[in-house]
Amino acid sequence: MRVIVVKDKMEMGKRAAALIAEDMRKKRGPYVLGLATGSTPIPLYQELIRLHKSEGLDFSTCISFNLDEYVGLSGDHDQSYRYFMNTQLFDHVNINKKNTFVPDGMAKDVEAFCEQYEAMIDDVGGIDYQVLGIGANGHIGFNEPGSSLGSLTRIKTLTERTISDNARFFARKEDVPTLAITMGIGTIFKARKAVLLANGAGKADAIKASLEGPVASFCPASALQLHRWATYVVDEAAAAKLTLNHET
Ligand code: PGA
Repeated sequence: MRVIVVKDKMEMGKRAAALIAEDMRKKRGPYVLGLATGSTPIPLYQELIRLHKSEGLDFSTCISFNLDEYVGLSGDHDQSYRYFMNTQLFDHVNINKKNTFVPDGMAKDVEAFCEQYEAMIDDVGGIDYQVLGIGANGHIGFNEPGSSLGSLTRIKTLTERTISDNARFFARKEDVPTLAITMGIGTIFKARKAVLLANGAGKADAIKASLEGPVASFCPASALQLHRWATYVVDEAAAAKLTLNHET
């Protein structure tokens, strides 16, 4: 595993964007991005927008799949992840929105939808670069502790910890949805490359457990220890509890 420790979240965004942009520029044909929401990837998306506007980074052949979406929120709800992706990235680069996919939080037949989402990813040849945040409890996507390491896209119940962590985005804690559709750990694992971002002291325990603890469903991000091409880009505060030496 490659672990890059940077000074702060702006640097985190820049380093991760550079990794992805380099890979995008190398590949001919459609490029498939796996995308994440939350506060962590915002500096990455800002840098990708800058690279598009000032260095011509081209998203016209990109296809994207987001990790997850709350059940019960439609794409025009300002806390839906579709809304987040439009406003934080898609509206500012030359991606064709028809090629951007976020799980449908309003799907009537959730099971059928999840199967179809997996098939759509496979049909375009799989994800080239998967962007990940990490929950304070070690989750990736909404794969909460205890998730099967081989899981595929499905519905998950959010833990109390995740609901509290995400309450800051909603008027009241009771407004946070309790269910989500999320790619599974197995879905994430199929991506050709993955980059996990984290910043701030609140993530230090999760970063330590996922990198220096055992591979275990109790810490879903630890599954990345088995991935062929996973990179962590974390700031000094999130890296503070690591004991091994890392790249800077
Ligand atoms: P955050 O969420 O980026 O808002 O901290 C990360 C996550 O829960 O995966």
